[in-house]
Amino acid sequence: MGVTVKFFTTLSLLYAIYISSSAAFDPCASKPDHSGLTVIPIYGKCSPFNPPKTESWVTTIMNMAAKDPDRLKYLSTLVARKSVISVPIASGQNFNIGNYVVRVKLGSPGQLMFMVLDTSSDEAWVPCTGCTGCPPTMFSPNASNSYGSLGCSDPQCSPVRGLSCVQTGSSLCSFNQSYAGSSFAATLVRDSLTLANNVVPNYAFGCINAIAGGSIPAQGLLGLGRGPLSLLSQTGYLYSGVFSYCLPSFKSYYFSGSLKLGPVGQPKSIRTTPLLQNPHRPSLYYVNLTGVSVGRVKVPVPSELLEFNLYTGSGTIIDSGTVITRFVEPAYNAIRDEFRKQVTGPFSSLGSFDTCFVKTYEATAPAITLHFTGLDLTLPMENSLIHSSSGSLACLAMAAAPNNVNSVLNVIANYQQQNVRILFDTVNNKVGIARELCN
Ligand SMILES: *[C@@H]1O[C@H](CO)[C@@H](O)[C@H](O)[C@H]1NC(C)=O
Ligand SMILES: *[C@@H]1O[C@H](CO)[C@@H](O)[C@H](O)[C@H]1NC(C)=O
Ligand SMILES: *[C@@H]1O[C@H](CO)[C@@H](O)[C@H](O)[C@H]1NC(C)=O
Repeated sequence: MGVTVKFFTTLSLLYAIYISSSAAFDPCASKPDHSGLTVIPIYGKCSPFNPPKTESWVTTIMNMAAKDPDRLKYLSTLVARKSVISVPIASGQNFNIGNYVVRVKLGSPGQLMFMVLDTSSDEAWVPCTGCTGCPPTMFSPNASNSYGSLGCSDPQCSPVRGLSCVQTGSSLCSFNQSYAGSSFAATLVRDSLTLANNVVPNYAFGCINAIAGGSIPAQGLLGLGRGPLSLLSQTGYLYSGVFSYCLPSFKSYYFSGSLKLGPVGQPKSIRTTPLLQNPHRPSLYYVNLTGVSVGRVKVPVPSELLEFNLYTGSGTIIDSGTVITRFVEPAYNAIRDEFRKQVTGPFSSLGSFDTCFVKTYEATAPAITLHFTGLDLTLPMENSLIHSSSGSLACLAMAAAPNNVNSVLNVIANYQQQNVRILFDTVNNKVGIARELCN
């Protein structure tokens, strides 16, 4: 029940995954194993979209991390105290996502699409033929014999954000959304979605008719959140609400990780922490982060800054789309200050990172441990430090969340998830976390 994918890059995107069906002699081809998604790094040579960038990977990460605050602001809007279900993503929210792109097929016969996988989104959407402003690869509904449209009265339509059904009285399920600072107009449609060898019939997704702005993922997005229209919700019978992924090192060209869908083939004896749910934002994967240790020191962070709180919407989520882990500012400052105490300074800033030091002293850097209810995750050094492109500096690879009114959310991001398997069981409400070399 797996999907074989690879990890590659897109122009402004962090990660990409695609299912490999490459020819026999393609060094980028994945093993003939359909139990998992193999993952290669963003600027890997296996990218089907773009030639490898000449900039160093650390520059890339810094450029991408610079966009995290906008994503954090966006994620924060989702946890505002008032009900946010009716509030569409605001136009102009310029958040960037670290991206997994799954190679899927849409329609019958299947049309190959590389769709970004985003654990904090529910809906799927792709550019469709005839779209204004879309990149060249588009899904062609006319070429599929299993395609169908959905109307405002279809049950799949009502959970969609940004619906224009009421305003226009249109019978088609039309909606407008913003994403990464761009916006698009789409209609909800249905067609077969093929993931590896699994076919999901009548999968509901948005068919994009017009794009304004340049940051819509080129071949669409597949939401892996928990909400009603996500892949999990639409495939409940197929994957039983369970998936896991393991991301390889950022530094690797060819290293591959895996994304596994369904309960089969998942780690059996993985330690778990409760998966929590905020009814105001049902898509997000909340966990109860109870503390952070730096070396042997448990950092004195007021628990209300980390722990899940249904009323305030505060807490900690695990997100595939943010690059660098962010803590709310007072929590970050406390963690950083303890880290600085244990490392030889002086400290300087580099991009998003405010705690950089001469790499020679890296050996003094303490390990960072995230304490969750029921399990501790000690980050490998590769996940807590990032090196400058010149190689002379090492930086603490975390940052403060942007300090805005809704700044109540801590985000465990991609960089801290390298070589860690994260298992989401949305039926038994558990998140499994375990170190795993998936390079
Ligand atoms: C799809 O087919 C219909 C009917 O043949 C045609 O009118 C329409 O222009 C086609 N759309 C595209 C985007 O090719
Ligand atoms: C949705 O977007 C389209 C195209 O950009 C625009 O013409 C339309 O007015 C928008 N509809 C709503 C309800 O915002
Ligand atoms: C989170 O952890 C704290 C400390 O162990 C505990 O008091 C609290 O009940 C937990 N919250 C949830 C929602 O599990």
